[in-house]
Amino acid sequence: MSMSKDIFDRIEQISQNIAAYEIVNAEQLEKFRIQFLGSKNELKGLFGEIKNVANDRKKEFGQAVNALKGKAEEKFNTTKASFSSGSTATKSARLDMSQPSRPAPIGTKHPITIVMNRIIRIFERIGFTVAEEREIEDDWHNFTAMNTPENHPARDMQDTFYLMNSTEQLLRTHTSSVQARVMTTQKPPIRIIAPGRVYRNETISARSHCQFHQVEGLFVDKKVSFADMKQTLLYFTREMYGADAKIRLRPSYFPFTEPSAEMDVYWGLEDEHAYRITKGTGWLEILGCGMVDPNVLSNCGIDPEEYSGFAFGMGIERQAMLQYRINDIRMLFENDVRFLKQFNSAF
Ligand code: PHE
Repeated sequence: MSMSKDIFDRIEQISQNIAAYEIVNAEQLEKFRIQFLGSKNELKGLFGEIKNVANDRKKEFGQAVNALKGKAEEKFNTTKASFSSGSTATKSARLDMSQPSRPAPIGTKHPITIVMNRIIRIFERIGFTVAEEREIEDDWHNFTAMNTPENHPARDMQDTFYLMNSTEQLLRTHTSSVQARVMTTQKPPIRIIAPGRVYRNETISARSHCQFHQVEGLFVDKKVSFADMKQTLLYFTREMYGADAKIRLRPSYFPFTEPSAEMDVYWGLEDEHAYRITKGTGWLEILGCGMVDPNVLSNCGIDPEEYSGFAFGMGIERQAMLQYRINDIRMLFENDVRFLKQFNSAF
């Protein structure tokens, strides 16, 4: 008899537990379901104990357990319904502002940005500041001021994108136009680095594109010499390619510098890749440079008798392709996420 009493007490206890069970989110609802309605729920254990109940109370016992089950089902169903069709008021009441948010996926920088930022940081350390200028330029800043004669092939429609119905407005063909922008608005000493996009009417292939990026450098002050330029470029190369990097300057021609040179970095001939990209010489051309032509200084209102300077310009795509062994320049412009997400960098 006392055994029956214990079981009825337990039913009463469970009934109270069901009533008091706090369910404010889906997780708690699921726990509730498992505890009272799942395949191994608490009530099932009770049914098994019917053999311990006195015969005259078996019926009462069965009804009490069934009522318990009904109570659990009802609580489950009404709570579940209130979750899915609850008014905004109850919904927002359930919103737990203290929960940590889902982490947002972190993007990666474009390889061009990574290389460009590295170059900028290197020159910033020796006092260069960034100058950014327009990509739509006029003929004067892109060509005339830069001492580029009327009949220079770069001016040709075949190389330059002119804006519609214009022979004046164009997409800059090099970042050297920033030299003219800066020299006409600032007084020496000038020490700038100008990163940006440039455009040339080239057939798109694995090796060349109609848009690419350059970083321009300009240093104008009193008594700036070719040796200053060489030392600056050597410093840059060592920071970029390692302390034992070697450079060589080959005489060259640019309308806006005199004398002009092209700078090669020693890449070595260690493997087939190195052999191929250096065409068997071990040397890789990285940039064009030279002493600012006195004509350019005077075109921009700077007295060439008092000041001298050096300038250089380098392509970014080639350096990015070398560093990351990318063999098709078009990949840099397609914005394929599968390609881009491989680049992780603090720069
Ligand atoms: N503007 C030149 C080019 O696009 C590079 C250059 C810049 C050369 C400055 C000399 C000085 O090829």
